[in-house]
Amino acid sequence: MKKQPPILNKSRKFSDNMASAHALVVKAKRGEKGNTNGKGYAVPAFNVTTFQGINAAMKAFELLGSSGLMAFSNSALKHFGDGDQVFGLDVATSYIEKMAKRSSVKIATHLDHGDYVTEPGRKVLQAAVQRLTSVMADNSTDHANKVAMPLQDNIDLTREVVDMAHPVGLSVEGELGVLAGEEDEDTKSDFSTYTNPDELKQFVEETGVLMLAPTIGTMHGPNKGKPGHKVKLNIPLAHELLATANEINNDIVFVAHGASTLYPQVVEYAVEQLDKMSGRDEDKQKWNDFVGTDWDQIEGLIEAGFCKINTDTENRQTFLSALLGAINENSAKIDIRWYDNQGTDALIKSYIQKLIMAGNYGVWHEPKMNVEKFKFDLGISLSDLISQSV
Ligand code: 13P
Repeated sequence: MKKQPPILNKSRKFSDNMASAHALVVKAKRGEKGNTNGKGYAVPAFNVTTFQGINAAMKAFELLGSSGLMAFSNSALKHFGDGDQVFGLDVATSYIEKMAKRSSVKIATHLDHGDYVTEPGRKVLQAAVQRLTSVMADNSTDHANKVAMPLQDNIDLTREVVDMAHPVGLSVEGELGVLAGEEDEDTKSDFSTYTNPDELKQFVEETGVLMLAPTIGTMHGPNKGKPGHKVKLNIPLAHELLATANEINNDIVFVAHGASTLYPQVVEYAVEQLDKMSGRDEDKQKWNDFVGTDWDQIEGLIEAGFCKINTDTENRQTFLSALLGAINENSAKIDIRWYDNQGTDALIKSYIQKLIMAGNYGVWHEPKMNVEKFKFDLGISLSDLISQSV
């Protein structure tokens, strides 16, 4: 008989104010905020791809007293490390650890879509176990052959990561099923599959993962369906899968990939800016073709118990839209920090909006702004939006 998977070492001490992603997400599943227990909420996992992204996320977490989860894709690590992902891990982590030391909230750093299938993937995952507080071992798709990974291979590869990460206190997220859309630079899928509840039971029991991304119809990237034909999630399946997982271990938390909603005002603002600068029609068309997942669908998932919701695309779109506005407003500023700040402020607004929607505020301290009155608006400065909401 196979050995039992190792349990997560919860006594591991990370650097000041750093925590494993599972510790934050299981708190959300239980509805824990301060010393109270209420309705469950979700922790958005923001994919940070630049230092601006990290700064913006930290600011939003601080303003709201949120549990903070920052995730790194392989291509983001390449960017941080000037082409070297392992160096990128070190650079980004050192920066976040320094910021976390003076923070009043708890922060987790997570490898997004790490794989244990390819040689480069294994190398990054092994380094991530040394530097981050949580990792994803996504072995659900054989990207080279564009097919789903056989279940037993996915189990065996994911188990290897759990064996390495759990004893040193890092939570591991597995994936079961194939998700459509653009995952990262080199990993895209034209097809998707739903997660099978029987397979989920076997996967969870044999790998020991406490975080799992089952597929229930979400998609990665900016084109989730087509305008007028949005993605519809399989919420009944989400409930069935979580009930299956809870029977095995109530501490298992579910993760929704592809949780970007895309705010309509971001598209309107970008197209308005492109009109003003006589931008190309094909670019305007691209913006108009972007489709996110409707928030009521994501809310349905949170109610079904998905407590980690991955958002990348909508934040990139917000940053770019704000940058187009900044360039229109003034395209001859030598102080380039001004443009940087315009994009970063927009990112902060986008993060605040998502954290409020997910109910992830007041977890570590009372929010420093009025969450009821906050209104996401690219045309109003961040400081005005916050002072209006106090
Ligand atoms: P979006 O493309 O919807 O932002 O999803 C990102 C994601 O799931 C990263 O893992």
